[in-house]
Amino acid sequence: MSANTKIVIIGCGISGISAAQRLVNAGFHHIRILEATERSGGRIKTGRFGNSIVEIGANWIHGPCEENPVFCLARRYGLLDPEALTPENQAMDVGGHPPWVPNVFSSSGQKLNAEDLYPALKMFSELLYESSEFQSQGGEPWASVGDFIRAEVPQRAAEKWKDTDAKARSLQLCVISSMLKVECCVNGTHSMDEVGLGAYGLYKTLPGLDCTFPGGYEGLIKNLMSELPSGIVTYNRPVRCVHWNNSEKRENPVTVECDDGERIDADHVIVTVPLGYLKKHHSTLFHPPLPLHKLHSVQRLGFGTNNKIYVEFDSPWWDADCEVIYFVWEDEEDMVDQVPDIQRSWIKKLFGFTVLKPTERYGHVLCGWIAGHESEYMETLSEQEVSHAITQLIRRFTGNPIVTPRRVLRSQWFHDPWTRGSYSYPGKGCSVQDLENMMEPLPVKASQSQPLQVLFAGEATHPHYYSTVHGAVLSGWREADRLISHYSSVHPSEPPKSKL
Ligand SMILES: Cc1cc2nc3c(=O)[nH]c(=O)nc-3n(C[C@H](O)[C@H](O)[C@H](O)COP(=O)(O)OP(=O)(O)OC[C@H]3O[C@@H](n4cnc5c(N)ncnc54)[C@H](O)[C@@H]3O)c2cc1C
Ligand SMILES: *[C@@H]1O[C@H](CO)[C@@H](O)[C@H](O)[C@H]1NC(C)=O
Ligand SMILES: *[C@@H]1O[C@H](CO)[C@@H](O)[C@H](O)[C@H]1NC(C)=O
Repeated sequence: MSANTKIVIIGCGISGISAAQRLVNAGFHHIRILEATERSGGRIKTGRFGNSIVEIGANWIHGPCEENPVFCLARRYGLLDPEALTPENQAMDVGGHPPWVPNVFSSSGQKLNAEDLYPALKMFSELLYESSEFQSQGGEPWASVGDFIRAEVPQRAAEKWKDTDAKARSLQLCVISSMLKVECCVNGTHSMDEVGLGAYGLYKTLPGLDCTFPGGYEGLIKNLMSELPSGIVTYNRPVRCVHWNNSEKRENPVTVECDDGERIDADHVIVTVPLGYLKKHHSTLFHPPLPLHKLHSVQRLGFGTNNKIYVEFDSPWWDADCEVIYFVWEDEEDMVDQVPDIQRSWIKKLFGFTVLKPTERYGHVLCGWIAGHESEYMETLSEQEVSHAITQLIRRFTGNPIVTPRRVLRSQWFHDPWTRGSYSYPGKGCSVQDLENMMEPLPVKASQSQPLQVLFAGEATHPHYYSTVHGAVLSGWREADRLISHYSSVHPSEPPKSKL
């Protein structure tokens, strides 16, 4: 029976691929992946920038250690630099914040002494740490991380910085604003005012110093795809509607309707579309509609935009050992992470740049980071307009009136119709229950109808590793295992492998 089980996977990102890999290895033969675009990989997307290979989507393996499935796969396929494989690298536990060497510039064109900003950086990281503690303690004093930080900083500053002169104190507050913008990028949100304080600690970090793929993250996708049966994926095949709970058809309780009108019958469908897509299209994607508790979790969880702007220079204007560049606006003492006039001042949301290393491999390439509605507005501009804004910004902050980028390339994740943003975060009022609702299969009560008709995988369904590639991989394996154990308990004498 299970050898004839028909399974459709919607989406050929890393979670869909991971689910397919597990199911194929367990002996399931009738698996199809339907992918809306012409490529595999989804938010794992590698591009070219001049002579360099750059990541348009996922950048790092966060926490590369034995427990991280992405690290283990990348190592198996030989995709990592030797340093990343060392036990020292795997053991380095930095709690998700790599100790990058910063260069800091101010809006009046000064290069600031990074040590002078240490009080603000220290206070900010203490507040983030405290934010993550409310998750286990409960009783959070504010709804959002942004509210908490804005309430706490003035009190603590009055006490700790009472001997600091007014000008230096105001600069510390401006640094806090920059750090809020950094966190908007990390959490993929418009503002830290939208990130729930109570759920902030749900995210778990793994040990290991974040590493990259020297040949591009897509190498992982290529290797995984090469192990799947050829023809398993149908590209350019967006799914319009999942018709489930077909009571008249006991054979195949689910029918997947594609945009081109094709209808595919299945026993099980694994949905891996991004949360951004689900938020926009849930009402037409499921018939009957999602149960209310699941829908509310789809709405409560956040899905924001974080984009990259790659910029190349003939020569560096940062120090040789610099790994991250922060820009501090001297008019931002109010600790806001939202720009009032987006069309005029969207560029103020860019917190700065990370430096692509090693220089021998990339030359002088920076990656700018910008989150939120300002980032979504940036996507509507031409590349020339973005390049112009970046050039003016760098000239102002460095005080160098002639520095000019050689080329610019930016991502546009919000305008990707199959993604609608970057990654998920728990919004205000969220708890682990929302992530559990996200992963709950349909039907919820299996009493009258066939169980496990619609399953849910993808980054936004992992209770602790949401927003990451390893979270997406583990979610795909989890849903494959759900089906595998279902069939091994239903037909213990006839494991799926017997037909191989
Ligand atoms: C800018 C950026 C930087 C990131 N940096 C990192 C990082 O450094 N480290 C990290 O671990 N993670 C990072 N991430 C997150 C990581 O990329 C994702 O968590 C992960 O790739 C998600 O995989 P997924 O399979 O859940 O979703 P996706 O990769 O989005 O796959 C979903 C697939 O579904 C398809 N689809 C959508 N709608 C339909 C439809 N109706 N019919 C058929 N197919 C459909 C899409 O085209 C897509 O291919 C980053 C993401 C972005 C955008
Ligand atoms: C935001 O990112 C930080 C890592 O800097 C993490 O500790 C925190 O849990 C994240 N919060 C959410 C809501 O994703
Ligand atoms: C699914 O079908 C069963 C049996 O016909 C019915 O009792 C149940 O209400 C249906 N569920 C939904 C969500 O439509």
